[in-house]
Amino acid sequence: MKPVERIKEPIRLEMELFEQKFRELLRSHVPLLNRVTMFLVTRKGKRMRPMLVLLTAKMLAGKVTERTYRGAGIIELIHTATIVHDDVVDESTFRRGFFSINALWRNKIAVLVGDFLLAKGLVHSIDNDDFDLLRIISVAVKEMSEGELLQIEKARKLNITEEVYFEIIRQKTATLIAACTAMGAASVGSGPKTVRDMHRFGELLGLAFQIKDDLFDYTGDSIGKPTGIDIKERKMTLPLIYALDQAPAAKKRWIRNIVKNHNTDKQKVAALIDYVRASGGLDYATARMHALKDEALAILKQYPDNAARHSLEQLAEYVINRKI
Ligand code: IPE
Ligand code: IPE
Ligand code: MG
Ligand code: MG
Repeated sequence: MKPVERIKEPIRLEMELFEQKFRELLRSHVPLLNRVTMFLVTRKGKRMRPMLVLLTAKMLAGKVTERTYRGAGIIELIHTATIVHDDVVDESTFRRGFFSINALWRNKIAVLVGDFLLAKGLVHSIDNDDFDLLRIISVAVKEMSEGELLQIEKARKLNITEEVYFEIIRQKTATLIAACTAMGAASVGSGPKTVRDMHRFGELLGLAFQIKDDLFDYTGDSIGKPTGIDIKERKMTLPLIYALDQAPAAKKRWIRNIVKNHNTDKQKVAALIDYVRASGGLDYATARMHALKDEALAILKQYPDNAARHSLEQLAEYVINRKI
């Protein structure tokens, strides 16, 4: 069995039901919108976020409820909106192993479809009086926009520190993953301490997840979306930040000059990537990622030792060992 299949085992039926409900949620009377959303269900992603919502609920309560499904649906709607918009922002034409929405239908449509998905998620919560879940998700949506804008600001100024990097990835990625596990807990009526613990568990997992995503950019694995483009976009991620920190003054100038003035020069960027690797930037980022995963796993230890928890533990390993 593939790792993901093993992780899904305790929620196999629930995930099937989730897919049905999600497809239903995306239905619209506007034919163009329907074509785009049906494309999105066909070329679906890993569904890691709904898995986290369902597994957290099942670990804590032994079962999932209608609220859990709604929470998972809202999160996946918002995640989908975010990546549709992200590909417009990043001018990226490739996603989930195929053309992105903006590549197939152009920017206008991608922006509007992203808005629809976001609004649909909010309406779905309100219609069901899931105000506690809505609060969790709204905070995440706000933070994600802030994270993206902080990233753009730092890309302009090239003065990013490790601390700022962690703030960016916490906001743009970890906050939504934290919302998954917090919602999973809240959906089955867990108390505030448990919701907080699960939020922190998801946040740590989310940080590790984004470091892995940033490492893919350096290792050039084939993951269904472009790699080797962060430097081109002046996006300074952990391996590069570490290399820059460690570099002697002359090398620092060399690095900054490439990122600032030669970020589209393939040879110079390749030389910089080699330098980052040689200076231990990838090893450093990998070590930080492992430490975050371990910190996340420690939180789970206080919770029921059942099949769902084992899956969450395996999911944490998957986040840092995944090939896609
Ligand atoms: C992509 O998330 C966006 C990031 C936070 C890096 P996923 O890698 O979970 O996307 P899909 O849904 O599986 O395509
Ligand atoms: C991921 O951002 C999308 C969000 C979390 C908003 P990136 O631009 O770094 O990720 P990919 O590589 O396009 O998925
Ligand atoms: Mg982006
Ligand atoms: Mg992107």
